Amino acid sequence: MAGPILVFDSGVGGLSVVAALRRHLPDAALAYVCDNAMLPYGTRPDAWLVERIVAVCRAAVAQAGADTLVVACNTASTLALEGLREALSIPVVGTVPAIKPAAQQSRSGHIALLATSATVSRPYTQRLIDSFAPHCRVLRLAADPLVAEAEAWIRGGSLDVTVLRAALAPLAADPRLDTVILGCTHFPLLGSALAAAAPGDYDWVDSGDAIARRTAQVALSPDAWRGRGASLVTGSAVGLGDGFAPFGFAPPALLRVP
Ligand code: DGL
Repeated sequence: MAGPILVFDSGVGGLSVVAALRRHLPDAALAYVCDNAMLPYGTRPDAWLVERIVAVCRAAVAQAGADTLVVACNTASTLALEGLREALSIPVVGTVPAIKPAAQQSRSGHIALLATSATVSRPYTQRLIDSFAPHCRVLRLAADPLVAEAEAWIRGGSLDVTVLRAALAPLAADPRLDTVILGCTHFPLLGSALAAAAPGDYDWVDSGDAIARRTAQVALSPDAWRGRGASLVTGSAVGLGDGFAPFGFAPPALLRVP
């Protein structure tokens, strides 16, 4: 039977991917799951994360009856895609930092990767840089505090501009920088506030559209729309009902992870 496409992230970041999926696949049934009890992922140890991500996704796929999984999290994808594909019998689409398009579109060849501490230091990320941006100068910038800003923003809070400015200030170290990769799915949710707080005028690149295009190729039931999708959380749902509604999801239910 046709099931929804399940979008997974540690927190609300996957909603930026949901927005791209809704644009590319308007007839798809989507469900959402976030492991917000363990947020943020970006500062946790790798071995622990792999086990946790597989356990959460396995439980969520079963509870949502999903037939496709989109891992809308760079921190999880650069680590656990292989484990997820081994553990699940449905198509799994991952998210990787948009290093290739950024390297292609940069005029100066100076680009920056803005992501979590985990993503900027992963071997997977290094391999992407070696393969797709060997001719570029790549500034890697860990910006974990932006995750909490996006979480607060979706819950109706206001942004702390001083946090945004402090996180982005190191970009000024390279005056020739022209392109910034948003390598954490939380960051596109902050939208124009990031551009306003940045120390220069940059092109911002994220992976949302590429993930949606890939999902359209592999999803088993891309046209099974049946109204608002389920949303699942492992931690507190406070403030998330209103935050999820504009993305087409019902108020969150609790996911129990064995
Ligand atoms: N949204 C996640 C990503 O794309 C990371 C957030 C976290 O640190 O949990 O990497």
